Amino acid sequence: MLDDLKAKNRAWAARMVAADPGFFRRLVNQQAPEYLWIGCSDSRVPANEIVDLDPGELFVHRNVGNLAPPQDANYLSVLQFAVDVLKVRHVMVVGHYGCGGVAAAVDGRRRGLVDHWLHPIREVAHVHRHELEALPTERERLDRLCELNVKRQVMNVASDVFVQDAWTRGQRLSIHGWVYSLDTGLVNDLGVTIRGLDDLARAG
Ligand code: CO
Repeated sequence: MLDDLKAKNRAWAARMVAADPGFFRRLVNQQAPEYLWIGCSDSRVPANEIVDLDPGELFVHRNVGNLAPPQDANYLSVLQFAVDVLKVRHVMVVGHYGCGGVAAAVDGRRRGLVDHWLHPIREVAHVHRHELEALPTERERLDRLCELNVKRQVMNVASDVFVQDAWTRGQRLSIHGWVYSLDTGLVNDLGVTIRGLDDLARAG
């Protein structure tokens, strides 16, 4: 079962050791990533590869639509661990153009539980409906909604009590909003970075 994947795993581990014999031994003893990536589960948006980071360098949380819902215990646990224990310096919320989750949130079709999960994206679409309706094509509306969703999730992360406590005690921590392009492999920095409570007050 899955022999091809196991063979790939053995080949990958061998390549890593060939390039750096101490690689895995060092990782066993320490996890000290500087970054938390909150991204979409989409198989075309693999976190480490996109920013060319090795194991040990990126703490990752992924879900459908790259959401940071303030009631979601999974996301909150990851965020608190990253901020309080790992003391990451950067959190990046990374959406992607052509996101099926974003499209599914607003196409009006019923899919079951995932519709409930995607509800925050429908709220973002509603808040910005005038801006979105003014765009000429469906593709442009969805791409803009991907950006607006990322901005909203950046605000969610920055509004979190663990993050605010970290800023209050002087911890250096920046929250960034990016959107990845499946077409080019490039990340678009939305320029909505929040570095502390002052930035948050201005952004809010
Ligand atoms: Co997606």
